Amino acid sequence: MLVRDPVREPWASRPAISRPSAPTGTNVAVMTAPIDATTTPAWAELTAASEGFSPDLRDWFATDPDRVRRLSLPLADLHVDLSKNLVTDEILASLVRLAEQTGVAERFAAMLSGAHINTTEDRAVLHTALRRPAGASPALVVDGQDVDADVQSVLDALSAFADRVRSGGWLGVTGKKVTHVVNIGIGGSDLGPVMVYEALKPYADAGIQARFVSNIDPTDLAQKTADLDPETTLFIVASKTFTTLETLTNARLARDWMWAGLAASGAIGDDEQSRTDAVAHHFVAVSTALDKVAAFGIDPSNAFGFWDWVGGRYSVDSAIGLSLAVVFGPERFRELLSGFHAVDEHVRTTPLAQNVPVLMGLLNVWYSNFLGAQSHAVLPYAQQLSRFAAYLQQLTMESNGKSVRWDGSPVTTSTGEVFWGEPGTNGQHAFYQLIHQGTRLIPADFIAFVNPAYPLQDGGRDVHGLFLANFLAQTRALAFGKTAEEVEAEGTTGPLVAARTFSGNRPTTSIFAPSLTPSVLGQLIALYEHITFTQGVIWGINSFDQWGVELGKQLALQIAPAIEGDAAALAAQDASTQALLAYYREHRK
Ligand code: F6P
Repeated sequence: MLVRDPVREPWASRPAISRPSAPTGTNVAVMTAPIDATTTPAWAELTAASEGFSPDLRDWFATDPDRVRRLSLPLADLHVDLSKNLVTDEILASLVRLAEQTGVAERFAAMLSGAHINTTEDRAVLHTALRRPAGASPALVVDGQDVDADVQSVLDALSAFADRVRSGGWLGVTGKKVTHVVNIGIGGSDLGPVMVYEALKPYADAGIQARFVSNIDPTDLAQKTADLDPETTLFIVASKTFTTLETLTNARLARDWMWAGLAASGAIGDDEQSRTDAVAHHFVAVSTALDKVAAFGIDPSNAFGFWDWVGGRYSVDSAIGLSLAVVFGPERFRELLSGFHAVDEHVRTTPLAQNVPVLMGLLNVWYSNFLGAQSHAVLPYAQQLSRFAAYLQQLTMESNGKSVRWDGSPVTTSTGEVFWGEPGTNGQHAFYQLIHQGTRLIPADFIAFVNPAYPLQDGGRDVHGLFLANFLAQTRALAFGKTAEEVEAEGTTGPLVAARTFSGNRPTTSIFAPSLTPSVLGQLIALYEHITFTQGVIWGINSFDQWGVELGKQLALQIAPAIEGDAAALAAQDASTQALLAYYREHRK
């Protein structure tokens, strides 16, 4: 039995956050008032369970040989091992009751049916419709729109366009085949495509590479276009709203870059018609605002639409994934969608107690609301998932970083953990020290694949096997630690014993899959979408708006004239901002 140390294991006796119930009644339209999770019987059970909680994974594994079988669940092609989490069967049962008592299944059903669960924007939330198979029955009709028909029609147009670019049927203005697509977008119009591009690169088969420009820092566009040939480059301007400052600025810069490059080589003349022709051959767009696309100068026949019921961070499986369809081909893109759909079906049809995304969302609630965790690490043992944590940051933190519930009343418990991570084994040599021996509780998801994309050998030894040994070693070390007795048995004495002791009981979930295929990637993304939603429901928040990004955008527009020297704009700033602007003026070359 391990000796419990409240400093090294601070979650052992942390009280649950408890605040009074929020008042109800606001002027925000809602379907049903959120249920305050903190008033449910299940919450009381979990509060009691967390008081003096003293997890002991060593003991639990030793005395319960069936634990791993019970807590290992299939999710489409994923094998999800929850056994190294800090829960007993009783705690898990209370968590499932919490989901029942807060209406998680009902909210999922409402979302899938097209109800306007995005209350602050009065919108349906239907990213799941983007991956329904053709001919799904009964057809999904929402607010008078035949959603299935519209989705399939855009998918067909996107596929036809991708095939044209890949086969050389679509050519640049000088008749050359496209070698590079540059996606210009930010947030959900960037993070999903770039993450999937990196993940599926081994599937690129048409000699076309993608680049992604997002930051309004001019360095981004300058560096990403520096070695490109405008004659063989196709820009995809991806913006749901087509109003985003960064994206429209970069799109204009890209257009200038292309015009200047083509004119310099004599490929086009210096006249309006030549420029219009060049845009027609080198710019396409993806947006819900096709009128604004036309105003930018992109021919609406070269624009691909989607709908306001697709949130930006839930849009990689919409036409926002156009760059992916071009690089990997429409069949691969549809495989990605089929992976999403498999997980949607699991969520829709599986009882809560076996429902993997729901259970993982509930575990996150357990850690963050009852054991005091503030962050959550996602650690893929796959270099191809190098952008997965960045993608999840928008998905989870823009969705659940909220202080009010969907009826406008204050939340009644803490919400929205900080998600972060890096691929193993790089993380092992950087921040794992803190996860193993630090004072904070950091639940971690490990993601690994049995088969490598590149089966390299080192002196006859399978390098991927060595890589996976690290994944297994880390989750084992975190769960079971190393006792002082074990350290001493190795010959260590004195103060070094404490330094070399590992408390264990650091929770992990292992997600294992045969290979990182397009479908498996879709499954992973959908898994985290539904984990995020589960947590949002329990907290009573609308996971589909993002008002918290607005103030900064507004102020940037007010401050921009001050940067340019406008005295009135300067005078309107606070003292700190004025001082920073003075520093800027002093040092600007
Ligand atoms: O500022 C946040 C945000 O609205 C995200 O939610 C969105 O993904 C991103 O900006 C980009 O928006 P758009 O696709 O409309 O350019």
